[in-house]
Amino acid sequence: MSLPAGDRPPPFELTWLGGATGTRLHKRRPGADDLPWGTLDLDAFGPDVAAEARHVWTNGVFTEYASAAAFASLTSALLECGAPIDLTACAADAAVDELFHVELSSRLTTELGGAAPLHFDLANVSPATSPGARPLLRAAELAVATSCVSETLSVPAMARSRALATAPLVRAVLDRLLADEGVHAKIGSWFLDWAADRLTPAERDRLADVAMTSIEVYAPLWLTACDACPPPLGLGGHDERGRAALRDAVTTNIARPLAEYDIVLDPERLARVGCSYRTSTHGDSATR
Ligand SMILES: [Fe+2]
Ligand SMILES: [Fe+2]
Repeated sequence: MSLPAGDRPPPFELTWLGGATGTRLHKRRPGADDLPWGTLDLDAFGPDVAAEARHVWTNGVFTEYASAAAFASLTSALLECGAPIDLTACAADAAVDELFHVELSSRLTTELGGAAPLHFDLANVSPATSPGARPLLRAAELAVATSCVSETLSVPAMARSRALATAPLVRAVLDRLLADEGVHAKIGSWFLDWAADRLTPAERDRLADVAMTSIEVYAPLWLTACDACPPPLGLGGHDERGRAALRDAVTTNIARPLAEYDIVLDPERLARVGCSYRTSTHGDSATR
């Protein structure tokens, strides 16, 4: 549904200050200018694939921006609940990683011909937590939704796009993004290593619901394929094998590890998004 222009959220736009701030970011995250910018041959892919790639990478820029907001919120929540300093620093560092990813993804989008229109009120970009939740639970909700689910799913999605990518610039950008995603996906379990014993059973149930709700938000990525849109294979899209990898990641990299912290996802809700929940105990496999 398209809203009348007057009711639409403002367009998603980025700005860059440059000078001392840009220099500082590039000192902390070097290598951006070494990527093979200016080498994309869009004629080799055709206009439909290039147009779809612009959509994919515009969404990618927004996702990186939202991830920066999520890790910034997580950092604040970790400070408010007295989490270990080195863990909190990892979350803060991840926010800077994501801002660097915004820069790389938006430069790539520009080389693809420019961003597709995207409207979003940035006042709503930070993830919400349960009203009235104590700081520890707020941090746990953000860690689970951001790291245990969102970042954990981004690893196989990006890895499949990377395996299919043929354009050297797209491969280089995806390599650089992927280099950080593994750590981002671990921050949630590092947090739970410290926090799990401090959480009540009701709070762990709440976290299972948070995880499941996040998974349901991402489920269209593996449940639907746009027949009308040519997947921009070679320019950052992914395919059925990528969708299968996402389904598998839900079971193997999200549901099972969370169960080790007594955060047990609802098997019926998992089944509704096409995922099973099989856990292995003492060599036996059982469905929970
Ligand atoms: Fe990222
Ligand atoms: Fe990330």
